[in-house]
Amino acid sequence: MTRGRFITFEGIEGAGKSSLQRALAEALTARGHVVCATREPGGTPLAEEIRALALARRSDGMPPTTELLLMFAARAAHVSQRLAPALARGEWVLCDRFTDASRAYQGGGRGLDEGIIDALASIAHPALAPDLTFLLDLAPEAGLARARNRQDNGDRFEDEALAFFARVRAHYLLLAQREPQRFRVLDATQTPAELLAAALQELAAL
Ligand SMILES: Nc1ncnc2c1ncn2[C@@H]1O[C@H](COP(=O)(O)OP(=O)(O)O)[C@@H](O)[C@H]1O
Ligand SMILES: [Mg+2]
Repeated sequence: MTRGRFITFEGIEGAGKSSLQRALAEALTARGHVVCATREPGGTPLAEEIRALALARRSDGMPPTTELLLMFAARAAHVSQRLAPALARGEWVLCDRFTDASRAYQGGGRGLDEGIIDALASIAHPALAPDLTFLLDLAPEAGLARARNRQDNGDRFEDEALAFFARVRAHYLLLAQREPQRFRVLDATQTPAELLAAALQELAAL
């Protein structure tokens, strides 16, 4: 059996990652593909517990290195217990955030060293990289307005200043520039229907 396809969705809060993932999952399922829709941090019971810990607001704060290690602790569990097995079964894995998010948030946003993130990636998923990554690019003002409109309680990240998200966004764009063969940058101000059509067109080439 051939390995499945590994597609990831990246971008700042409110960019539309989860919406596009949902729409694509539906479209691919309708075409007869077996889809594994999952997210990071999280995606397994253990990794979801780590997610709750990583994202919860807390009065005593969280050192950036702790944040980074929690993200990779969750990722290691997710990859070995869910993601790699689904790919081995030939499924289309649609993952809402992956290691690029650590590069953009903990690297670009928090200023942690890129070499350390590379090293952690090589521990958590030594032989795995997305086949295609959709970067939903949106101004932080617009993204945060959308995210805060969602009427969930938000999380620790949504409390960050606009300058933080500007660094995250810029770092995502840098990653996309470095790996143009893997990244597809989508203008996230488009309508959901336009984004779905653009994404399907890109996937047809896979
Ligand atoms: N293309 C779009 N145009 C306008 N609003 C959108 C679009 N995509 C998503 N939204 C809305 O913006 C909010 C954030 O979308 P969501 O998919 O949850 O973003 P993310 O997962 O990137 O944080 C939701 O309320 C969603 O309905
Ligand atoms: Mg989301």
